[in-house]
Amino acid sequence: MAKHHFPGEFLWGTATSAQQIEGGRHEGGRGESIWDRFATLPGKIADGSRPDMTCDHFNRWQEDLDLMTSLGMGAYRFSISWPRILPAGRGKVNPAGLDFYDKLVDGLLEAGIQPFPTLYHWDLPQVLQDEGGWAERGIIDAFTEYTTAVARRLGDRVTRWTTHNEPWCIATLGHEEGHHAPGHTDPAESLRVAHHLLLSHGLSTAVIRNEVPSAEVGIVLIHCPAMPASPTDADVDAARWFDGFFNRWYLDPLFRGRYPEDAVWDRVERGHLLGSDLPFLHDGDLEIIAAPLDFLGLNYYSRNVMRMGREGRPEAVAVAPVEERTTMGWEVYPQGLEDSLLRVHRDYAPGSIYVTENGAAYTDPAPVAGRIADPRRIAYLRSHLLAVHRAIAAGVPVRGYFAWSLLDNFEWGHGFEQTFGLCALDPDTLDRIPKDSAFWYRDAAMANAVDDGEDPAP
Ligand code: FCB
Repeated sequence: MAKHHFPGEFLWGTATSAQQIEGGRHEGGRGESIWDRFATLPGKIADGSRPDMTCDHFNRWQEDLDLMTSLGMGAYRFSISWPRILPAGRGKVNPAGLDFYDKLVDGLLEAGIQPFPTLYHWDLPQVLQDEGGWAERGIIDAFTEYTTAVARRLGDRVTRWTTHNEPWCIATLGHEEGHHAPGHTDPAESLRVAHHLLLSHGLSTAVIRNEVPSAEVGIVLIHCPAMPASPTDADVDAARWFDGFFNRWYLDPLFRGRYPEDAVWDRVERGHLLGSDLPFLHDGDLEIIAAPLDFLGLNYYSRNVMRMGREGRPEAVAVAPVEERTTMGWEVYPQGLEDSLLRVHRDYAPGSIYVTENGAAYTDPAPVAGRIADPRRIAYLRSHLLAVHRAIAAGVPVRGYFAWSLLDNFEWGHGFEQTFGLCALDPDTLDRIPKDSAFWYRDAAMANAVDDGEDPAP
């Protein structure tokens, strides 16, 4: 079996986010987030759960750190909870909130695990939503205030920072489709939200650089390659449409200092914009958004095959049989990760790229003699790591990979029904139980290599 070695400095890690694992909803002076509120609305979370306790990482962080150490991890991507740091969104800093991340960072560094924090992974303080949230330009000051508080406290030890996680999901799922908090369904608002996220990223980047001169700063985007279902002009155009809407709407302003013209016209055609003059765009915004980045964080889960549906509405088609999908319904398509990395490198050339999330939800069996057999997750990880390896061999500067996720956790609107973790939780005790995939990933990280394997079909 061929072994594929990664570059010497390659980082192996796992990723989580505060709202999904911390719990401690009413502990340590934390304020309410938009997800705490959203989860109280009927029908918003598939299993009716609330993120009050989740994995109780707020109290078990030490145990989770030991878990990462036992898995040989070199880095940990986590997010900081804005409502823990500034329970009222702005103004008075909650010292207990900063203390929590201070201890976590110290613990990580002692364990030789590099901290890789994200400032905003979707848990906006509810009080700021009450003022209009990301739809209002005024929120940007609050975000830079929050960034300053965190960078000042952790900047002597944390060098790699990311601002936002997946602005597309915040703008579209939260404000256009309504599946995520705050549950709005206003396409014009979602464009304002996207713009304010990008602008706040640029300003927050400047704050971090100012507070932490040695910092490396990036943003995390989800990337989904779009392919036409057939070679017809209509289907090719549907794929172009999706790429503009999902990928280039963020990549172009960040790396080229402009919104993609074709995607702007797509929005005009749909009545989401009145004309190609973007009403939310002020002079100088694009220069701020396009401030040079040290790295891009790329999250990848699957691809979309697109066709032009009825009335000229582009739509995704399910091409893969059910057995080749995860329980999220997402096609297992590792080639799409190599394609995404090559594309981003070719078209935008970030100096470094980290795969900041990649992983799969499957229904896992109950433990047998303490072991949880999850061969399909192993196959998913292996095939995607091999895709990363091919991209590196082709010259893409990929510096690390973070498996989503360390633990089964609160999967947003799916509650606890979708399990992405390398480790399960005992439902009664919340004890962490590493799945076979965790041991497989540990071995790959320790060897800094992945072999071809003989995995079952996805
Ligand atoms: C990503 C999110 C992450 C998790 C995974 C499955 O879009 O960043 O929090 O929900 O999907």
